[in-house]
Amino acid sequence: MSFWDRLQLKGKKAVVTGGSRGLGFAMAQALGQAGAEVIIASRSEDKLAEAAARLRDEQIVCHTILADLATPQGAEVLCQQVLEEHGPPDILINNVGGRRIDIPTEQMPLEEWLRIIDLNLNQAFVCTKMLGGAMLPRGWGRVINVASICAMIAVPHIKGRSYETAKAALVMFTKATAADWAPYGVTVNAIAPGTFLTDTNRGWFEQRPELQQKIEREIPMGRMGTPEEIGPLAVLLASDAASYITGSVFVIDGGRTLV
Ligand SMILES: NC(=O)c1ccc[n+]([C@@H]2O[C@H](COP(=O)([O-])OP(=O)(O)OC[C@H]3O[C@@H](n4cnc5c(N)ncnc54)[C@H](OP(=O)(O)O)[C@@H]3O)[C@@H](O)[C@H]2O)c1
Repeated sequence: MSFWDRLQLKGKKAVVTGGSRGLGFAMAQALGQAGAEVIIASRSEDKLAEAAARLRDEQIVCHTILADLATPQGAEVLCQQVLEEHGPPDILINNVGGRRIDIPTEQMPLEEWLRIIDLNLNQAFVCTKMLGGAMLPRGWGRVINVASICAMIAVPHIKGRSYETAKAALVMFTKATAADWAPYGVTVNAIAPGTFLTDTNRGWFEQRPELQQKIEREIPMGRMGTPEEIGPLAVLLASDAASYITGSVFVIDGGRTLV
């Protein structure tokens, strides 16, 4: 079998949490273009329908599930629905997450701290346990956790260190689970993006244009990533071509963490 054949995802079922927009949509689209059937989950019915229509226009088989992963309980509900409606997936991308706060530690209310840990870590644990766990009996599976370069560095322009903490814990969870599941043929890897120009970030930069310039100056490539640039990495990690890669963290940041 050629290397190109091993990258194909035909016959594989992929769940992408937060697949309606941003990096999640770009990864779902890339997996779909590589032949996977995709199941995207997020909170807005309209955004899900819009995303599904775009994917179906490309002849990608796409299903949607309305889900709120702000809590571990919400993640349990999603996983039960996936298992009932679609059975165990082959590929899981734990993409939901985000910071959405700019509060220094000395002022951080405990509830805010816990909210960000739930959103970036605890729901991903539940999805990994239930959907990744369901891959074990089959002896083949791919779990991809979307972390951040904030798992490695404390970015200077925005506070809210529960985000850094949660993403760093997600990275260690990735490695430990990878070690446990390696004998079962289920790989677990993480992608650590730098700053990407998603619609959400565009909106944020419209309010704070000086922030965009500051961030761009810190990136050796001199620009942010575009969502399409993350898709190929997700396809590689989801495919048979990555059969010997597990417990790894793939930084994709235009060189931001080099300087
Ligand atoms: N973009 C970046 O520069 C960047 C950098 C480093 C790491 N990351 C990480 O990459 C991942 C994706 O980020 P993004 O920038 O692409 O985010 P985004 O543009 O804000 O999109 C987030 C996706 O998740 C869904 N979502 C958000 N909260 C949810 C919830 N509680 N339950 C279910 N779905 C939810 C959104 O849909 P709804 O709002 O409709 O639910 C959307 O589909 C996150 O884990 C983020 O931390 C992003």
